[in-house]
Amino acid sequence: MDKLLIQGGARLDGETTVSGAKNAALPILCATLLSAEPVTLTNVPQLQDIATLLRLLGQMGVAVERDGDRVTLDASGLDNPLAPYEMVKTMRASILVLGPLMARVGEARVSLPGGCAIGARPVDQHLKGLQAMGAKIAVEQGYIHATVAGGLKGARLFTDMVTVTGTENLMMAACLAKGETVIENAAREPEVVDLANCLVAMGARISGAGTDVIRIQGVECLHGAEHRIMPDRIETGTYLCAAAATGGSIRLMGTSTSYIDAVVDKLLDAGCEIEGERDAIRLTAPPRLTSVSIRTAPYPAFPTDMQAQFMAINCVAEGTAVIRETIFENRFMHAVELQRLGAEIRIDGNTAVVTGVDRLEGASVMATDLRASAGLIIAGLVADGETLVDRIYHLDRGYEKLGDKLSQLGARVSRVR
Ligand code: EPZ
Repeated sequence: MDKLLIQGGARLDGETTVSGAKNAALPILCATLLSAEPVTLTNVPQLQDIATLLRLLGQMGVAVERDGDRVTLDASGLDNPLAPYEMVKTMRASILVLGPLMARVGEARVSLPGGCAIGARPVDQHLKGLQAMGAKIAVEQGYIHATVAGGLKGARLFTDMVTVTGTENLMMAACLAKGETVIENAAREPEVVDLANCLVAMGARISGAGTDVIRIQGVECLHGAEHRIMPDRIETGTYLCAAAATGGSIRLMGTSTSYIDAVVDKLLDAGCEIEGERDAIRLTAPPRLTSVSIRTAPYPAFPTDMQAQFMAINCVAEGTAVIRETIFENRFMHAVELQRLGAEIRIDGNTAVVTGVDRLEGASVMATDLRASAGLIIAGLVADGETLVDRIYHLDRGYEKLGDKLSQLGARVSRVR
């Protein structure tokens, strides 16, 4: 099992390129199930989760051609609407095949994704919406069996809470339904908008993506298209935090400050200077950051996927920060690992109080989930001495060429077995 060895103390300095967004690419890959014509995607990140989903789509009968960040998918041969447990358990976003399969072939057998380290991750809202559109759904032996005779029908849907993949699944299902579907309380995340843009390029009729009310007029079928995946705003924020924590000065290309206003605001409050270019961001950090309190919430508020990274920078900032996690019930596991490096963190339910310390001491730590691992890497970059981060397969799921990009920015990191 690979580990990442970090020699702390280097200021990050230099530039690197941000990859396409994992959380836009995953739903958009599933959207290709809706068409019998080829769809070509560019700027697709080369990540474990993407490879897993492409394998799953291949098993369903989708022809997949990949050339670097360019992927062409042809679902004309779709003949096996099954997402088996052994695939879904490693990549819960596989649930995103449910909506497209119901729209295209009227049936689906998808393993329940189950929970993960950060929470139970139920999909009740996905199922409730599909049932409102006419689907018959049974959950047996850990599988969702969904069928609909005569095709889905447009409906007025309301989700009990803002759900990103729930909104995405229902929007995809509605594209080929009979009549209009309105999704109220919809997620406004930029990845939902990127998916809607791709669907519209394929011939879907969608308005309101990016707001909390999305309207979809069902059409007979969708045609082929070409779409470029948006930049990964969480990868962008992660590298900005790494530079901020190390007092560095970096430039990130292939990205922009759009879609991360809440993160940029907090980094400015922490004392960084940030300059947005058309297709790049520059950040220059002060010698020591000022603590910043955060409260996670659905977009456009502060993203939960950046919470661990901000806990890490608050460990070495001047002052005390209060971190409120309102989206997931168990997303502070990085705290105990950060305490092993000497961080002063007090957890009380979904609130963490972080008091900045002058120095962290390198140690062996263990990654528990994708974004927690990123937080541990940031702490390792500023800790004295060596930090060995174990179970970095979590990182490989969501950060393309992380070691190479950190090295490009001047970090002293190496992968060890
Ligand atoms: C998406 O997960 C992202 N994943 C997550 O990123 C991200 O943290 C999350 O949105 C929140 O922004 C992808 O887009 C592939 P939710 P998702 O449905 O859609 C509850 C990463 O690190 N809920 O918006 O699964 C749920 O338990 C990952 O890249 C229900 O109760 O999250 C949670 O408390 C981690 N029932 C809240 O809603 C449902 O049917 C928000 O979850 C659906 C959700």
